[in-house]
Amino acid sequence: MTDPLRLGIAGLGTVGVGVVKIVQQRADLLAARTGRPVTISAVSARSRDKDRGVDISGYAWEDDPVVLATRDDVDVFVELMGGSDGPAKAATEAAIAAGKDVVTANKAMLAHHGQVMAEAAEAAGRVIRFEAAVAGGIPVVKALTEGLAGNEISRVTGVMNGTCNYILTRMQSAGLSYDEVFEEANQLGYLEADPNLDVGGIDAGHKLALLSAIAFGTQVDFDGVALEGIGQVTIEDINQAAELGFRIKLLGVARMTGRGLEQRMTPCLVPENSPLGQLEGGTNMVVLDGNSVGQIVMRGAGAGEGPTASAVMADILDIARGIRLSTFGQPATSLIKANRAAVATAAPYYLRLTLKDKPGALAKVAAVLGDCGISIDRMRQRSHGSTDAPVLIVTHKVAAPSLQDALEALPKTDVVIGQPVALRIENV
Ligand code: HSE
Repeated sequence: MTDPLRLGIAGLGTVGVGVVKIVQQRADLLAARTGRPVTISAVSARSRDKDRGVDISGYAWEDDPVVLATRDDVDVFVELMGGSDGPAKAATEAAIAAGKDVVTANKAMLAHHGQVMAEAAEAAGRVIRFEAAVAGGIPVVKALTEGLAGNEISRVTGVMNGTCNYILTRMQSAGLSYDEVFEEANQLGYLEADPNLDVGGIDAGHKLALLSAIAFGTQVDFDGVALEGIGQVTIEDINQAAELGFRIKLLGVARMTGRGLEQRMTPCLVPENSPLGQLEGGTNMVVLDGNSVGQIVMRGAGAGEGPTASAVMADILDIARGIRLSTFGQPATSLIKANRAAVATAAPYYLRLTLKDKPGALAKVAAVLGDCGISIDRMRQRSHGSTDAPVLIVTHKVAAPSLQDALEALPKTDVVIGQPVALRIENV
């Protein structure tokens, strides 16, 4: 048997412990699959004495992850600390400079620094792999870089934050408000230390930006992702959308258009009978469209010890086998700078308006929409007991600027009360 592949693991939280367990418990399987033992030389974390339920006494301890990353007995630096900057970035840079390969679950770091880091690693003949950074246990990075490498990818779509999907589906099933379910998710420990990373769409936006880079051969452009979180989604819209046959999801969509790269992570309606519409709880789903393969749907756990450690191990095992893929599926220096699409592709929209219940009110709304070039597909006025009439409209495809014009014009009529709600419909 050849030399072992020696790991240095920085970060012994849920995922780090999961990786240690796999290395300890499946040593024979890993060696059989790679042809060499996979071992751990050293570990690093915030607290040395914490009981993590695994025996780490056989590994060297380093307080400083930068020192860990540069140890002579480490071949692969496994970065599981998180954070876009600070120790994670410093240690990753140090690892590359010291000639180590890197495996990371850190979507924030790569979304902000992935291009520079990938160029540095490739110039040094090293690899950075990040399967665990996107959609937890779903092997979507591998699918794009390997299984679908012969395709032109036209679209990447998905639910990439389990916490948001838990909140939205729980609101619907329990009939609870956003605030109530947010608190429940908090009690269950589902939320990131900074909850806005989840509910603000940032975590999922990081993931989408990383997938876009591979899918479209572009430099990671997180700032180009149009982001909107789920904080404004109401139980009323969830219920009304359900009555029209839709579910509301925090949906990522990336597509290369003739106008440039379009990337969005926003609440959208999807058909309730579609795979995405049927995705319940804290699960993730990624839908890939390729010109040869057609559509691929991948579903699985987006977080948690086992699923995320499984993805980390996939990268480690590739390195053990001598598989040395470019970080983003092609040499980093060949990735082109993304030209951002200025406006989103036209789509149907769900509109919810509250109208004064008086003759001619609906006609005025229809006239405003018509003036803005918006055609109505379906319209429903709810029965109501007060003087205000809730109205739901599903439009045909609308260009984003036309929708914006309508949203500005509607409240200026004397029949629309408050600001209309508009949500994009994605027929995935
Ligand atoms: N907080 C994320 C989620 C997992 O809820 O999906 C880590 O990216």
